[in-house]
Amino acid sequence: MAVRVAGIAGSLREGSFNKGLLRAAVELAPAEMEIQIYTRLGDIPPYNDDVFQKGDPEAVADLKSFIGGADALLIATPEYNYGVPGLLKNAIDWASRPAGKSVLNRKPAAIMGCSPGLGGTIRAQHALRQSFVFTETYAMLQPEIKIPSAAPLFDPSAKLVDETTRQYVRKFLESFANWIARFKD
Ligand SMILES: Cc1cc2nc3c(=O)[nH]c(=O)nc-3n(C[C@H](O)[C@H](O)[C@H](O)COP(=O)(O)O)c2cc1C
Repeated sequence: MAVRVAGIAGSLREGSFNKGLLRAAVELAPAEMEIQIYTRLGDIPPYNDDVFQKGDPEAVADLKSFIGGADALLIATPEYNYGVPGLLKNAIDWASRPAGKSVLNRKPAAIMGCSPGLGGTIRAQHALRQSFVFTETYAMLQPEIKIPSAAPLFDPSAKLVDETTRQYVRKFLESFANWIARFKD
């Protein structure tokens, strides 16, 4: 049976490079891996523990079932001010509750990201990895996909067209499939 991966890109922008990177991952995934793309990031309300205590809003319940129903999690994060974009961090915060029993606990994951700047999102990726220490989310260590100067690698519809980068993504996903297999019962 195919390994089901929940894919989340941390941008709402129509022409988002990170959404494009995630779409490329769908195309380039190994045969035994099926990546589904989450589309409701913009529906998640700001985290409020009072609201959580009363019960998850519908969009949050949907996010949790999207992640919880998958074998693994794949995140394409932009970098905002050297960190994780607030919207994505907010979604991770919701997904992390209840602490110790959340859909992120012991979930294999991989992080990738691209930026038109020179940093290639590595600072945001490390910040996200730091959150995953507390949630005990098994984020793959190597290889890393951090893509700087990303704009020319995409066409006007934000499709990843650069063949070298597509090869990186392909290899990254092969490693991710092996990583996920390590955590199978
Ligand atoms: C508020 C804000 C902060 C940003 N900070 C960074 C940054 O720290 N490092 C970086 O490489 N790019 C930064 N950028 C540029 C983003 O990398 C760029 O907008 C990128 O296209 C966002 O990802 P997306 O294409 O997936 O939407 C920032 C952009 C915004 C809007």
